[in-house]
Amino acid sequence: MYTHLELRDSARVPVSLSTLDKMKREREKIACLTCYDASFAVLLDIADVDVILVGDSLGMVIQGHDTTVPVTMDDIVYHCRAVSRGVHRPFLMADLPFMSYPSKERALENSVRLMQEGGAEMVKLESGAGQIEIVEFLAKHDIAVCAHLGLKPQSVHKTGGFRVQGRGEQAARRMLESAKALEAAGADIILLECIPNELGAEITAALEVPVIGIGAGPATDGQILVLYDILDITSGRKPRFVRNFMEGAGNNLEAARAYVRAVRDGSYPGREHGFT
Ligand code: KIV
Repeated sequence: MYTHLELRDSARVPVSLSTLDKMKREREKIACLTCYDASFAVLLDIADVDVILVGDSLGMVIQGHDTTVPVTMDDIVYHCRAVSRGVHRPFLMADLPFMSYPSKERALENSVRLMQEGGAEMVKLESGAGQIEIVEFLAKHDIAVCAHLGLKPQSVHKTGGFRVQGRGEQAARRMLESAKALEAAGADIILLECIPNELGAEITAALEVPVIGIGAGPATDGQILVLYDILDITSGRKPRFVRNFMEGAGNNLEAARAYVRAVRDGSYPGREHGFT
């Protein structure tokens, strides 16, 4: 049970926002995964993952809901606290769940909870033009912010399901402008979910901050996947951008290492994992 802790090399310098900015400048790909507990956090640390997200996807993969909507602040704080105990090198990001940021004041209050009670180093919120003021407010209070654009799972009941976003000239322009405005408002990372490959490349080239993609094509500065998807634990239909890294791996650690290697050497994702 303790062998993983012994394997962890605590001499490695923890990843910070400056590390991620430098990786973007030097065109080194950033490998990110979701995580929800301490044991997997230790394992992902050993696998050399750069960023760990305590995502509200826990509502689906841990709690068994159909969407992320039922996830509460208490749920994220609980899982984040567990993950933070296992993490040494990776930068730790946590999701602000559904309706935890309806105003800038509530966003600040809940971000403070994620950082002080959960141990998060950055908060992520599903964003668009409507969240610019919130991002600005959090940035003004020195909170590291990741703005999530494209498919926004917290909005599925409004948008009509888990669908590719940003298709067509007008929608693509709108997303590019939102990404630029969120960067200008102080977002430190932009995360793009399920958008066409070309738009992923265009937004990545237009921004100075790192851009992390999930189903956003091979050109983004980094990639993120849901941990249980790469470990082939998730049941049901898999999105096109998911690759099963257990194939050819003897155990979970080898699979996580294979994922990090594939992101870093550019062999994952291929164009076929993305959308047109
Ligand atoms: O909650 C989550 O896992 C996410 C990823 C899909 C990026 O937001």
